[in-house]
Amino acid sequence: MSTLDWNDDPTQQYSPQQPSTAQTAGSLGAAHPDPFAVQTGAAQAAGAGTTGLEDVAMGAGRIQVDDKKIINCKADLNQLVPFKYQWAWDKYIAGCANHWMPNEINMSADIAQWRNPTAFSDDERLIIKRALGFFASADSLVANNLVLAVYRHITNPECRQYLLRQAFEEALHTHAYQYIVESLGMDEAEIFNMYREVKSVHDKAAWSLPYTQSLADPMFHTGTPEDDQRLLRDLVAFYVVFEGIFFYVGFVQLLSFGRQNRLTGASEQIQYIMRDESMHMNFGIDVINQIKIENPHLWTAEFQEEIKDMVREATDLEIQYAHDTMPRGVLGLNANMFHDYMHFIANRRCNQIGIPDIFPGATNPFPWMSEMMDLKKEKNFFETRVIEYQAGGTLSWD
Ligand SMILES: [Fe+2]
Ligand SMILES: [Fe+2]
Repeated sequence: MSTLDWNDDPTQQYSPQQPSTAQTAGSLGAAHPDPFAVQTGAAQAAGAGTTGLEDVAMGAGRIQVDDKKIINCKADLNQLVPFKYQWAWDKYIAGCANHWMPNEINMSADIAQWRNPTAFSDDERLIIKRALGFFASADSLVANNLVLAVYRHITNPECRQYLLRQAFEEALHTHAYQYIVESLGMDEAEIFNMYREVKSVHDKAAWSLPYTQSLADPMFHTGTPEDDQRLLRDLVAFYVVFEGIFFYVGFVQLLSFGRQNRLTGASEQIQYIMRDESMHMNFGIDVINQIKIENPHLWTAEFQEEIKDMVREATDLEIQYAHDTMPRGVLGLNANMFHDYMHFIANRRCNQIGIPDIFPGATNPFPWMSEMMDLKKEKNFFETRVIEYQAGGTLSWD
């Protein structure tokens, strides 16, 4: 289907840049006396970056690539080029090339199966409803964190371009869950209220919220080591943990149905969502690593210990969620396999931000998950989709 897919193998992607390159802005040898926009009030006092809403500094010098910084940048944010972070632009292009819409996917086989009283055991129906219940509010939380907390503090236009694409993809994911729930005729109130009614679903959302609340205060600005670390904590909580750990029990469970040729329409949507989420996570990891490169003083031994504790806590919550959704073995899966899998995933996530294994020796009981990410290999894995998007943005019809 798309021209690009994303593999979450940490050895294949992360490419943050060291500060300072020879690239230049544009062209006509402009003066470069003061490309910095005007700041006022508390933000200036705190050494915070610009927001993009400052007055236009008429006649100011042209922006050079070395003026750009990923946080606390003082240069105008309304100017996309010259690129400093090619990896961010590349992911924006890849995200667009991977565009899909939930309602393009044919749900008729899923509907017939769901209505068949003998097609699923009670345990299987519980898994499906729990997974949809978690995801239905999870992608909304991620989107709100992006728009209301993260966006303002990432002071780079190419990264913001990706954030805007990601925010739309999160909306598509919430749309997908609504589409699946509606198609199958599930009790919408049960699914969409689940994060207030089922403890293991609630606990994951509740774990993440303090990190976003910490940044969403309008008076909060980055610019001091303590405040910059608050931003980093939120990035770890949402990109490394929420999108990199909290989705994975549900992904394995729902994709396991597709592997048995059941709920193929829902499984195909989960496959697209997992590919999107893998790219979101890899983008967030690149942002974290770029902040580290530009601000090495933030990545103290003490802070790294704090990050390890966050990942350990989150891993325990995800394992608890696996036990809660799978009180008995089903689909060839059991909760103990998720114990191993989540430890394996947690190690990978830590390694991607430069932290050694926190669960040494963990192994992956689900090697087939990496094939699920590779949508190039089989153009249309579950053969339910009727439309292909082209990288250039035009549609062709099969
Ligand atoms: Fe999402
Ligand atoms: Fe996401």
